[in-house]
Amino acid sequence: MPLLGWDHIEFWVGNAKQAAYFYEHAMGFTRTAYAGPETGVRDRASYVLEQGDIRFVLTSALSEDHEIARHHARHGDGVRDIALTVPNAGHAYREAISRGADSIAEPLRVDDEYGTIETASIATYGDTIHTFVDRSDYAGPFKPGFVSQSSNGHAPGGVGLMNIDHVVGNVELGRMNEWVEFYERVFGMTNIIHFGDDQIQTEYSALMSKVMSDGAGKIKFPINEPAEGKRKSQIDEYLEFYGGAGAQHIALASNDIVRTVEAMKGRGFNFLDTPDVYYDDAVERVGEIEEDYAVLQRHKILVDRDDDGYLLQIFTKTAQDRPTVFFEVIERHGATTFGEGNFKALFEAIEREQALRGNL
Ligand code: FE2
Repeated sequence: MPLLGWDHIEFWVGNAKQAAYFYEHAMGFTRTAYAGPETGVRDRASYVLEQGDIRFVLTSALSEDHEIARHHARHGDGVRDIALTVPNAGHAYREAISRGADSIAEPLRVDDEYGTIETASIATYGDTIHTFVDRSDYAGPFKPGFVSQSSNGHAPGGVGLMNIDHVVGNVELGRMNEWVEFYERVFGMTNIIHFGDDQIQTEYSALMSKVMSDGAGKIKFPINEPAEGKRKSQIDEYLEFYGGAGAQHIALASNDIVRTVEAMKGRGFNFLDTPDVYYDDAVERVGEIEEDYAVLQRHKILVDRDDDGYLLQIFTKTAQDRPTVFFEVIERHGATTFGEGNFKALFEAIEREQALRGNL
C-alpha cells in the first residue's frame, strides 16, 4: 500500500485548550488551525499545531456523552489517530478492508473554498486508529471546518524538531505477533528488526519488540509487548494505566539534538536522567562522533552506533499524569536502527521513574 508519509497525530485529551498551550510552549509548536463552536463545530474543539513537517492535533469533547469524553475517561490523554498521507484515501481504505482491517470511517470527500480532502479510517491496536488522508487537492488550513490561526501574532518558535521518525505501540502480552502480522497483511510492511526479551532485559523487567516498516522506510512502527520479569514490566505499567494497548512514544527527529534538548529543558520539558556511568564506555562503544561527549553527558543524551552510522537520542518523562505517552528526540547520522545499545540504560531510567510512582 503506497504511503506518502505521516499526515498528523491526533491526541484525544481532557482539555485541548490547555494541552495545546503545553505543546506550543514546552515543545515549540506553532498553532496553525482551530475548529470548535466558533467555526461551526458543535461537539468538540481541535487545535492544530505544527513544527517542521510534524503536525499534532489536540481534541477534546464539549459534553459528557461523547466518544471523545469516554475515550478520555478510559485512557486519559492519549493518541487516538496515527494518520497517514496517501495518494488515494478511498483506495487505501478499500485495500485495507479487503485485507481484513476493521472499518472506523468510510471514505469521505469534503470540500470548501480551498479544495477537496478525502479521508477514511481503520482500526489498529486498542482504541487507536489510522486515518488515510489524501490532501493533494487541498490548500486550506488542515481540513474543512478549520480556520487558520497562523495570523494571530504568535511567532513561530520552534526547538528544531523536524519530522516524525517513528511511533511505538504497546500491546498486550502475547499479542505482538498478531499486530506484526496485521501490518504485514494490511499495509504490506515488513519486520525490519526484532528484539527478544534476552536483549531487552534489566534486573527487573523485560519486553519484546518488533519494528514494522513500509517499503520506502518512511513509516516505522515498533510494537512492544511485555515479557516476564522479576517485577512489573514498564509495558505492563503502560497497559494498566492506559487501559489497554495504545501508542507509547512518538520519536521526533532533530538535526541539532543538543539545541533542541536545551530549548525544551529551558521551556520546562523534563527528560529521563541517565547515570554518569553510562558515559564511561560510550566513546569505546560508539567511537568518533561529531558531537562532544561531555556535552552529551551534560544533557544525558544517549548515543549508539549500527552498521550504517550513529544516532543520538533522549526520552522525555511522560507528558501527562498517567504514566503512558512520552516523546523521544532523535538525531540520526546514518544509523537506521533504534538505539538497541541504549535499551538497558533507557529501561533502567524508566524503572527508576516507575519505582517513584510505586509501580515497580
Ligand atoms: Fe523510539
